[in-house]
Amino acid sequence: MKDRKKEHVDIVMEKNVSHSYNYWDDFLLVHDALPEIDLNEIDTSINIFRKKLKAPIIIAGMTGGFEQAGEINERLAKAAEKYGVAMGVGSQRAGLQDEKLEKTYSVVKNYDIPLRIANIGAPQLLEWDDVVETSQKAVDMISAHVLAIHLNFLQEVVQPEGDRNAKGCIKKIDEIASSISTPVIIKETGAGISSKTLEKVLDTGIAGIDVGGAGGTSFAAVESYRARMKKDKIREELGKIFWDWGIPTPYSLLEIAELCKDAGLTVIATGGIRHGMDVAKAIALGADAAGSASKMLKNPMEQMELFLLSLKSTMFLTGCKNIEELKEVEIWMK
Ligand SMILES: Cc1cc2nc3c(=O)[nH]c(=O)nc-3n(C[C@H](O)[C@H](O)[C@H](O)COP(=O)(O)O)c2cc1C
Repeated sequence: MKDRKKEHVDIVMEKNVSHSYNYWDDFLLVHDALPEIDLNEIDTSINIFRKKLKAPIIIAGMTGGFEQAGEINERLAKAAEKYGVAMGVGSQRAGLQDEKLEKTYSVVKNYDIPLRIANIGAPQLLEWDDVVETSQKAVDMISAHVLAIHLNFLQEVVQPEGDRNAKGCIKKIDEIASSISTPVIIKETGAGISSKTLEKVLDTGIAGIDVGGAGGTSFAAVESYRARMKKDKIREELGKIFWDWGIPTPYSLLEIAELCKDAGLTVIATGGIRHGMDVAKAIALGADAAGSASKMLKNPMEQMELFLLSLKSTMFLTGCKNIEELKEVEIWMK
């Protein structure tokens, strides 16, 4: 598994594994030629899960579980601290199985990050004897404020060694969400959440949803490359067939953001977020915050600076003094 997590990072750094199309380009925030505000007075802060962030941005969970992953998480944590945004770690399965790997995740505790998000995978919930105890361990490992349970069945389908049994996940999610000490969210990893999926979890105790839609990193693509490395021709081709599978992130928001709000659930939009203008579009379409993963891997400090500058610039040009106003701004579908 150590090798797998390292291969994911290497492939994302070296190959083009993006969806063929970025769906945020289908949307246009309406320009205000007379904004009548001062850019320097724009307030990008938000309150989410009872924590205050300086901007509605999450460095989405990516890694942990091998030596260099500790260095990556440390780099991301430094950026999250400096810019006052949230950060998630990658799946903690490896750290839960092998204590020696815990530090590759727990390194984030050394930084003053306003919101830390722990991460476990839905397919593993079916393997663990005590899901509540194990989930609590994942939370404690990084002193998390929120636990994300990721849904990645597209990836599991293509992955040569994938878990392809999804029976019983909802019951386990409910068990965890109603028992552990932190809020629990479910998080897709690039294929989006539909209203049909939302309905299935409305009665569980979850506190939020990361729609994790299509348009950015494609895990079918990542696994297609891994299958090629393993000389598994059929799964390499399967990954190509499913490369662009999924509900695009902004369309997933259009489908469920309102329903989530009615149900009191926090909404996060991850998937294909390239800069602060995409963050602004996500907020205008009903998200409370937006997550970005692959963009942050190489130079998170520089990326965060650009994210904040482009978010503020977008808010200025749409005449929004704060995030509450951005939520109400006019957005056109091209
Ligand atoms: C190298 C890499 C590893 C990832 N590992 C995880 C993971 O362990 N758990 C998880 O919930 N999401 C994981 N993701 C998914 C991201 O959190 C995010 O949902 C997805 O990459 C889409 O965002 P992007 O288009 O900005 O990259 C990973 C992403 C990348 C690039």
